[in-house]
Amino acid sequence: MAVQKIIITPILVFLVTIFFNVSSSSSSNNSQYQFLNHGVRSAYWPAGDDFSPSLIDTNYFTHILLAFIQPEPISFKLEITKSGIKWGQNFIKALRHRSPPVKTLLSIGGGGSNSTLFSEIASTKQNREIFINSTIEVARKYRFDGVDLDWEFPETQQDMFNLGLLYEEWYNALFAEAKVRRKPRLLLTSAVYYNSTVRLIGKHGPRSYPTQAINKYLDWASPMCFDYHGTWDNNTDFNAALYDSKSEISTNFGLHSWIKSGVRPEKLVMGLALYGRAWELKDPNVNGVGAEAVGPATDTDGSMNYNEILKFNKQSGANVVYDKVAISFYSYAGTTWIGYDDGPSITTKVRFAKSLGLKGYFFWALGKDKDWSISKQASNAWGH
Ligand SMILES: *[C@@H]1O[C@H](CO)[C@@H](O)[C@H](O)[C@H]1NC(C)=O
Ligand SMILES: *[C@@H]1O[C@H](CO)[C@@H](O)[C@H](O)[C@H]1NC(C)=O
Ligand SMILES: *[C@@H]1O[C@H](CO)[C@@H](O)[C@H](O)[C@H]1NC(C)=O
Ligand SMILES: *[C@@H]1O[C@H](CO)[C@@H](O)[C@H](O)[C@H]1NC(C)=O
Ligand SMILES: *[C@@H]1O[C@H](CO)[C@@H](O)[C@H](O)[C@H]1NC(C)=O
Repeated sequence: MAVQKIIITPILVFLVTIFFNVSSSSSSNNSQYQFLNHGVRSAYWPAGDDFSPSLIDTNYFTHILLAFIQPEPISFKLEITKSGIKWGQNFIKALRHRSPPVKTLLSIGGGGSNSTLFSEIASTKQNREIFINSTIEVARKYRFDGVDLDWEFPETQQDMFNLGLLYEEWYNALFAEAKVRRKPRLLLTSAVYYNSTVRLIGKHGPRSYPTQAINKYLDWASPMCFDYHGTWDNNTDFNAALYDSKSEISTNFGLHSWIKSGVRPEKLVMGLALYGRAWELKDPNVNGVGAEAVGPATDTDGSMNYNEILKFNKQSGANVVYDKVAISFYSYAGTTWIGYDDGPSITTKVRFAKSLGLKGYFFWALGKDKDWSISKQASNAWGH
């Protein structure tokens, strides 16, 4: 009896736990999903950087995205340049047979891409079909496992509506192609604004993402939870704060807007930045969050890779502050002020994503970490 009881009790506890998890999520499947799924830990690899894809430590990732390839104006097909072919082939060769294995995706668009062109592609059925077919052709030719769209950003509500049609027809084409070819369907994902409505960018006013199309047709959407503040502001602030009680510009606000808009949490993969932003202070003695700044502290736009920030902090003997309210770090030395993420803030954000029932997280970008330190801490915090 006693032995039996000892055996049965843990099983019951286990079953009750499953029952509780499933039944408590009446409006979504996230608990059940989490129980069954290990989640997405992904990262973009910027083609053309010096960082070789063969150096990627796949212990910390499940999906790697090649960034970026562009569609051509007029033809609407993906542009296949000589360097693009070289990057694509090296990328796939370096990642195809890795242990642990990773899936590879081809990402289309990116921050510097032509938003008007995407608007034109999405605007008619014929344009969409040409574009979609071309993405399938290229992804299969180079043996990618999926495709990703990073349109920054749809300008109008009409663009958003057309984006929903693009997702739908793209998914249907991928599904049909997989069936005909008897191959696993190509994954379909999309990087999106940190917030479900885009209000602060462009001149056309607020427009909202096609949330039902995201639920139905994407494997997941990836809110870019960074670039909140930078040297386009005249005062120091964080690149990617989790919380900001004074504004809507935070990861907490954005992810909740996505969930409130009706996107299921298990369709969302939270963005994390492996870079910070550096300002030149007006007065080195006024060096807190919100201090007046005169411009970027670098000869570019002020963005600085995590590994460069650590180096700067060490070499300049910078003061380092963890803002436990915003969940972000900043450091300052002389007239330089840098807002960024480090291990503890990344860990807190990953736990936050998990507590919301999200599908996972992604990094922008590979090559910016310091000896995989952040990638590893994120992976641990996810519970892998
Ligand atoms: C839960 O998952 C099932 C099976 O995958 C699906 O049919 C159903 O629509 C999902 N329900 C919700 C509320 O997401
Ligand atoms: C962007 O795309 C639009 C629409 O196809 C095209 O007219 C324009 O020339 C493109 N701009 C650039 C810089 O390529
Ligand atoms: C796109 O691919 C489908 C399936 O192979 C084909 O039926 C269709 O004609 C193609 N459309 C264009 C515009 O190439
Ligand atoms: C975020 O989205 C919500 C609706 O989902 C909208 O009301 C709000 O204006 C948006 N905020 C920003 C800063 O874009
Ligand atoms: C920053 O300051 C410049 C010059 O005073 C001003 O033109 C600009 O609007 C300010 N930018 C912001 C975001 O406040």
